Amino acid sequence: MRNNNCGSGKINGYFYVTTPIYYVNDKPHIGHAYSTVIADSIARFKRLSGYSVFFLTGTDEHGLKIEKEADLRGATPKGLADSVHIKFKELFSELNISYDRFIRTTDADHIRTVQTAFKKLLENGDVYLSEYEGWYCTPCETFLTEKSLMEGKCPQCGRQAVKVKEESYFLKLDKYEKKLLDYIAGNPGFIKPDFRKNEVLSFVNEGLKNLSISRTSFKWGIPVPGDDKHVIYVWFDALLNYLTGIGYEDFIAGKNPDFMHFFKSVNHIVGKDILKFHAVYWPIMLFALGIEPPKTVMAHGWWLTDGRKMSKSLGNVVDPVSLINKFGPDALRYYLLSEITLGLDGDFNIDNFVVRYNSGLANDLGNLVSRTAAMLNKYTGGAVPGADVPEDAAVLKTAYRILGGLDAGYDDYDFAKILEDIFRFINTLNKYINDSAPWKLNIEDPEEKTVLLKILKTAAVSIYHISYLIYPFMPETSKKINGIFNIKPFDSAGFSVRPEDTAAHCSELFKDGCRISEKAEILFPRIKFEE
Ligand code: MSP
Repeated sequence: MRNNNCGSGKINGYFYVTTPIYYVNDKPHIGHAYSTVIADSIARFKRLSGYSVFFLTGTDEHGLKIEKEADLRGATPKGLADSVHIKFKELFSELNISYDRFIRTTDADHIRTVQTAFKKLLENGDVYLSEYEGWYCTPCETFLTEKSLMEGKCPQCGRQAVKVKEESYFLKLDKYEKKLLDYIAGNPGFIKPDFRKNEVLSFVNEGLKNLSISRTSFKWGIPVPGDDKHVIYVWFDALLNYLTGIGYEDFIAGKNPDFMHFFKSVNHIVGKDILKFHAVYWPIMLFALGIEPPKTVMAHGWWLTDGRKMSKSLGNVVDPVSLINKFGPDALRYYLLSEITLGLDGDFNIDNFVVRYNSGLANDLGNLVSRTAAMLNKYTGGAVPGADVPEDAAVLKTAYRILGGLDAGYDDYDFAKILEDIFRFINTLNKYINDSAPWKLNIEDPEEKTVLLKILKTAAVSIYHISYLIYPFMPETSKKINGIFNIKPFDSAGFSVRPEDTAAHCSELFKDGCRISEKAEILFPRIKFEE
C-alpha cells in the first residue's frame, strides 16, 4: 500500500478516488482499463497539486456469477478469483496504475467490515428478514421487477432473467427516499456528468422498493452474521469495499482520524451501467450507517465496437494487453482519454487508434521532443540556456493559461478538452520552431546567437511544461522526457509541483544550464499501417 503525500510537506486537502471493483469471471478488457485509467489520471493530478491522495481499486469476487463460472471451469470460486485477480494486477502494472490498495472482496478485513455493517443495520432496524419473490439477472447480479423485463429478459444485458423465491434480508430503501432526493438536490456535484442526474431521479421518483440483500440458494458469499444459511448480496458486499479500503474497522474503533477526511472527498468512477447502485443504493446504505454519501459519482460511457457493447459472446472484446504490447501503455491511455468526452460512449476503432498515434504522439509530441533535443545537442553541446537567456513569453502564455484552468478541468473530468489544449500547445510550439527556423541562424553571429538561444530556451521550457501537463495522462512518456532533460520525474518520492509553481520550478532547474542526454530516445516510433 502506498500513499504519496506531496513533497512540500503541506497538504492541500484530501482526495479519495475509487474504481469499480471488477468481477473475476473473466480477464480484463478495455472497459476495465478505461475506468482505471480515468481514476489514475485524476489521482496523479491531485498528488501533483499537493493533495493527500488515496486511490483504491480491486476485484469483486463473490456471488452467483463467479460461482457458476468456477463450476464451468472445474475450479473453486476462490481458485478462480485467485487466478483472475492476478490478470487485473498485471494489466494495472503494465498501465502504470498508481493505486494505493488493490482490494479483494475475499480479503479478511473486508469480510469483517461487511459483517459489521450488516449487523449494525440489523440492530438499528434498517435491515429486516422477509421473503423475496421476483426476478433476478445473474450476469448483472441484479434484482428486477416484472415490469422492467423485456420478454422475460434483463433490460440491461438482454439475457434471460430467472424467477427467485426465497427468504431474504431486506434493506429499507423507502425510509430514505426523501433524504436521498434532498441530497441530490442539495449537491449539484454529486452525479457527474449532469445529464445522468435525470435518469437517477426518475428511478427514485418511481418509488423505491426495499432491496433484497441476502440469498439462500447458493453459497459463494459472505455469510450473514448469526444466520449463515444466507450469504450477503454481492452488491451490498461490493459497495462496502469503499469503506474497507480506507480502514473502516479502525475508524469505528476510534483509531483512524483520516477515514472521514478521505471519505468526505470521495470520487467514485463508475460506468453508466452501474450508476444506480452508486447513486441510489450506496448513499442509502451510508445514510443507514450514519455516514454522508459520496461527494461525487462520475459515470463514464461505454466503449463499443461497431456501435455494439463488447461482450465475450459477440467476440468483439478489445484486449488492452495486446494494445499495450504493440503501442505502449501511454498510447492506450492517451487514446482512451482523448477520443471521447467523459460520460459519452465511443467506438473503439483500431485504424483510428493508429492514425491518432501517428499524428498526435509520433509526429506532434515525439518529433517536438527529438528535434529540440537534437538542436540543443548541436548548438549548445546539450546545455539548456540558463537564467541569462529569457524565453519567449508569448509562446509560454498558452501553457500558463492551460495550467490555470486545470483545477476546473479535472473537477469536470474534462480530460479530452485538457488533452486537446495540451496538443494545441504542442502544435503551437512546433509552428513556432518551424516559423523561426533556428537551423538557418548562425551561432557565430552574436545577434543571431541571441535569437537562437532564446528559441532553444523557449522550446526547452515549453517541453518541461508539456511533460508536466501530460504527466497524469501519460506518466511513462513524461518520465522519459524528464529523463532526456535530466529532471527528476514528477512522481519521485517526496517531490511534487503544483500547477501554480511550475514556472518557478522550471527556472530553478534550468538556471545553470541543465545538460540534456546526448541521445534522446524516440518516444513513439511511427507505426506503418500494414503492421
Ligand atoms: N463488480 C461490479 C462493480 C462493483 S463496484 C462496487 C461490476 N463489475 S464489472 O467488471 O462488470 O464492470 C466494472 C466496470 O467496467 C463498470 O464500471 C463497467 O461500466 C465498466 N465496463 C464494462 N464494460 C465496459 C465497456 N465496454 N466500456 C466501458 N466501460 C465498461 O460491474
